[in-house]
Parts: sequence; structure tokens; C-alpha cells
Amino acid sequence: MNIAVCNVKGGVGKTTTSVYLAAVAAERGEDVVLVDADPHASSAIWLEERPLDGVTVVEAPSERTLTRALRSEGTLVVIDTPPGDERLVRASIAAADSVVIPTRAGGVEFPRVATTLEMLPARTPRGIVISSARLGTNDLAETIDWWKKEGVSIWGVIPERVAIAAGPEGRLHREGLDLYADVLRKARARR
Ligand SMILES: Nc1ncnc2c1ncn2[C@@H]1O[C@H](COP(=O)(O)OP(=O)(O)OP(=O)(O)O)[C@@H](O)[C@H]1O
Ligand SMILES: [Mg+2]
Repeated sequence: MNIAVCNVKGGVGKTTTSVYLAAVAAERGEDVVLVDADPHASSAIWLEERPLDGVTVVEAPSERTLTRALRSEGTLVVIDTPPGDERLVRASIAAADSVVIPTRAGGVEFPRVATTLEMLPARTPRGIVISSARLGTNDLAETIDWWKKEGVSIWGVIPERVAIAAGPEGRLHREGLDLYADVLRKARARR
């Protein structure tokens, strides 16, 4: 199964989400391929600094390399996508069985999520993950209400945590892994 992690906006938690989704599946003994379609190679660098048993990284920063990477064998292929590069995002979406859309809370984020949603084929299962969320804030409540009204599923709310912000500088965060495990379950249930 291929899961693409997409949002045309930058800095919304795509790489963090991709690494955590790959990690939770690998923790269960699955063979995971993490395809890094971002020329900045953030996922690849993260896994280089902190390798994860069961996760193989394939760097694929062009349409040509992405097409080849998507032929990888694995029970799960997670695709981390770059912001802004519409061609690479579209190629990732075309290969996806399910699309996870990370976003921050707040109304300014809605249009970019909407743009990302418009890129998806009608039948592709999709869900939003609110990353770096401040629990109990109006911004978070409004964001959840907004997407509910729009009929878009929210597959996860990941609180803002110093340990998650540390990225490859620290170990993966247990609470984060548990919450992302739930996101993975939802992304798979929609097949
Ligand atoms: N739950 C969280 N708690 C705290 N910080 C977080 C959390 N999730 C993500 N971040 C931080 O938010 C920033 C952006 O996250 P990330 O790099 O995953 O986004 P991205 O969408 O991949 O960015 P880019 O578009 O640049 O590739 C990073 O500094 C990351 O550590
Ligand atoms: Mg990234």
C-alpha cells in the first residue's frame, strides 16, 4: 500500500508525519519503504542520523526517480512530498492508495489544504492530520469544526511536543508514535 503525505504548503509536518508513519509500521515488523520525494531530503537525512529497523529510504527528488521508487517492494510505502512542486506532488498522489494531509491549526491554513484536496482524484481516501496542535485553543477547535463541516475526515491531532520538534536529534516520541499509529490505521481502513 502507498500512502502519500502531501500539502502544497511548507512547514506543516509532512516530514514528521512521514517518518512517524514509517516508524509505527516498522515497529510492528513490517517492511517499510520511505520514499523521499523532496529535493531537500529531510526524511533521508533524518533516517541517516537515526536509522530505523525495517525502514528503507529511497530518495526520489524527480518524477523519473519517483516513478522508479514507487516500484519498491514493501508492505507499506510512505511518500514524503515537497511543498510547492506540483508535478512531484501530483505524481505521488497518482500512485497513492491513501493521502494524509498534515496541516497546522488556524484559518490561514484552510486555503492551502483546500488546494491540496482539489488535486486528489475523487475516490482517493484522504484525511487531515493537525500537527503541532495546541490543545484547548480556539484555533484547534475551529479547524476541527471547519473540516467536519466540509466533510473531510480528521485522522489525527498531534500535540505540539518538544520531543517531536527535536526531529532526528532525539528519539521518536512514544505519545507521537501512538497517535500516528491511529492515523496509519485510519489511512489503511479506507482502502
Ligand atoms: N507535533 C509536533 N510538535 C512540535 N513540533 C512539530 C510537530 N510536528 C512537526 N513539528 C515541527 O514543525 C516543523 C515543520 O515540520 P516538518 O519539517 O515535518 O514539516 P514539512 O511539511 O515536512 O516541512 P517542509 O515543507 O519544509 O518539508 C519542524 O520544525 C518540526 O519539528
Ligand atoms: Mg518536509
